[in-house]
Amino acid sequence: MINVGIIGFGTVGCGTIRILLNNNDLIKSRTGADVTLKKIADLDIQKDRGIVIPNGVLTTNVNEILDDPDIDIVVELIGGIHPAKEFILKALQNGKHVVTANKALLATEGQELFQAAGKAGRALGFEAAVAGGIPIIKTLREGLASNHYQSIYGIINGTSNYILTKMTDEGKDFKDALSDAQSLGYAEANPAFDIEGIDTAHKLTLIASLCYGIPLSFNKIYVEGITKITAQDVQFATELGYKIKLLAIARQVGKEIELRVHPTMVPVDHLISNVNGVFNAIRVIGDAVGETLYYGRGAGDMPTGSAVVSDIIDIATGKANTSNNQIGASTNNGYTIRDINDIESLYYFRFTAMDSPGVLSRISGVLGENGISISAVIQKGRKAGGSVPLVVLTHNARERDVMRAVNQIDSLPVVSKPTMFIRVEGGD
Ligand code: NDP
Ligand code: HSE
Repeated sequence: MINVGIIGFGTVGCGTIRILLNNNDLIKSRTGADVTLKKIADLDIQKDRGIVIPNGVLTTNVNEILDDPDIDIVVELIGGIHPAKEFILKALQNGKHVVTANKALLATEGQELFQAAGKAGRALGFEAAVAGGIPIIKTLREGLASNHYQSIYGIINGTSNYILTKMTDEGKDFKDALSDAQSLGYAEANPAFDIEGIDTAHKLTLIASLCYGIPLSFNKIYVEGITKITAQDVQFATELGYKIKLLAIARQVGKEIELRVHPTMVPVDHLISNVNGVFNAIRVIGDAVGETLYYGRGAGDMPTGSAVVSDIIDIATGKANTSNNQIGASTNNGYTIRDINDIESLYYFRFTAMDSPGVLSRISGVLGENGISISAVIQKGRKAGGSVPLVVLTHNARERDVMRAVNQIDSLPVVSKPTMFIRVEGGD
């Protein structure tokens, strides 16, 4: 029998506890794992969470979990850096396995935590930290283990995808959509992590380290969130046959790895562009398997609880990884992270320019001088003497050239606002 102690009785804690209590017999008969929920610690144990907890299980004292020699697995579900980090280190020092959904902690402090787990010979499971209920960590670590990963990219933040979907399909306001996502339990304690792309980058950090054997490189990831996307951009994207999605991209180019998070226009006929609401999808291309796609709910109590419990089952059945493979590796495996200025992409530009003769040729002239070629132009509305949006799609261009061109264009007297640009997938 394996005893589990859970710290954090919030959204994910509730999902995990419901599954452990309600599906216990199923788990035992299917996997042989005999799991007992021994303790749950939270700051507030009076709040009604809609779950009947057996007497003596709830406590406000985390040490009743961390110091209990009968508890085999500590599940950290409080979030944040401190005291979550100290709880995990203490659990490992006390010989316990740890399961966590805390990607912010692992992406920024994981090197030390994975090392501590390796030293203690204990598992540090984190399936729930990436893409909610989708078993992507197990897939990358085990199912596709024989592959060189050419690319891993997709939607790995439920909150921002929920917001973009509501803006696109229902014309909902950004703030209202965010507030819905918060009340549904999808958003981080600090929702800026979701909408500024930080949570996506935390998850990409873990994926990249696992797939390429590189150190956890959160600070080297290029990150742009969705806060600058306007209803007008969503509308132009639709007219051009695209949807705007916040993508995490890891791509191997020779000995360089591209690691980037940014809003991306995805053609409407691509599967990823039809991933809506809280759903996530990850497209993985391996040299042996070719293209694969993983889809499911990326946030929420029960989907994330399902991932937490899968780690608990692996530990209980002796299948968990206690060496943690190459995650949090200290060498680079010969890889370097590619400078964002060196990437190539198609681009969408929305210029705000005077509605007067010759303006388009001034702008296209600057693009041409910088080696950027245009594939489509839209100008909507007329406002003689005023400013109008001028939308341009490009063929493949280098980011460095694009940045130079945008700076030059924004300093033209006929351009009245900073140019909006979005990278476009599905290129030439
Ligand atoms: P919640 O805020 O819903 O739950 C956290 C719980 O932990 C709260 O009940 C909180 O109490 C309690 N808590 C905070 N500090 C302590 C402490 N020192 N000791 C004991 N209890 C404490 O967060 P979530 O469940 O949403 O998220 C938990 C983790 O899971 C985070 O790392 C998050 O990033 C991750 N995650 C969340 C997903 C989701 O869909 N929500 C999906 C995937 C991962 P109080 O409210 O009183 O502060
Ligand atoms: N806030 C995160 C999201 C939770 O919306 O995807 C799941 O990691």
